[in-house]
Amino acid sequence: MGFPVDRLRRLRRSETMRRMVRETALAPDDFVYPMFVVPGKGLRREISAMPGQYQLSVDQFLRELEDVASLRIPAVILFGVPEVKDAAGSSAYSDEGVVQQAIRAAKREFPQVVVITDVCLCEYTSHGHCGILRGEEVDNDPTLVVLAREAVSHARAGADMVAPSDMMDGRVGAIRQALDAEGFSHLPVMAYSAKYASGFYGPFREAAESTPQFGDRQGYQMDPANAREALQEVALDIAEGADIVMVKPALSYLDVITRVHALTPKPLAAYNVSGEYAMVKAAARAGWIDERRVTMEILTSIKRAGADLILTYHAREACRWLSEA
Ligand code: PBG
Repeated sequence: MGFPVDRLRRLRRSETMRRMVRETALAPDDFVYPMFVVPGKGLRREISAMPGQYQLSVDQFLRELEDVASLRIPAVILFGVPEVKDAAGSSAYSDEGVVQQAIRAAKREFPQVVVITDVCLCEYTSHGHCGILRGEEVDNDPTLVVLAREAVSHARAGADMVAPSDMMDGRVGAIRQALDAEGFSHLPVMAYSAKYASGFYGPFREAAESTPQFGDRQGYQMDPANAREALQEVALDIAEGADIVMVKPALSYLDVITRVHALTPKPLAAYNVSGEYAMVKAAARAGWIDERRVTMEILTSIKRAGADLILTYHAREACRWLSEA
């Protein structure tokens, strides 16, 4: 069959009819909202390259969390900017660390919100790399020990899920083992499985104060040119016990999302990262794009590609728009 019998425009003639045949619908349950917590009190510092996103002290974080909860966003992912950094990133597993405090406060005030924590060392190391250095290289296996301690410390504080984003080999297994040994066999791991060495993380590094002091992350994050390698990363993480796998960034990697979706029935997350957010905000401020329309198109494309969950700084505005629609 074909034209003139088939006329696909017939089902596009009214909004109601379009709604009936729409394949992809966004909902608040799709989103995970990233938040940045800092030591101190009364702090709410806007991140310059991420308009509408803030570094928050724990008290302010709770105020924002109230809004997140009222929008019925199921989960947040927390990033911490610590008071002190050292070569070993040891404040990452301090029980009095800012993330640990934020977790306890969040679970006390809003127990229904799922608290996920980013497990990585780049925010906690003086050199800004995601692990322990040996010379100028990140030393894989000693880093695993510290990541596992960090994950256990988050679990003790009450985190509902941990999300390793460092890209060390074997970290999902090391974290799984440590959690199990400490009585947290029920705690899921969301693995940043296919995390690319991307220029799109630029604004985040200002937000998390985690820019590497020398070199870059190409020695551990993935080469943007590789898609089949992503399937290996995902398979390894699943074999090591990942409950949710992730592709990051999202937009330049929609093909990778689709391929991972075809590979595994595990829930798949995609991270719509800081640079992707910043581009939309910048173009919208310049009056070059329709912000709401472009944002919803982007989020829809990530879901259509195969993501079950979208980590996005747009989560709150998207939920407001969805409730108006
Ligand atoms: C930590 C981490 C990064 C992001 C999430 N976890 C930065 C990086 O790897 O440099 C980026 C998130 C974003 O850009 O929104 N390793």
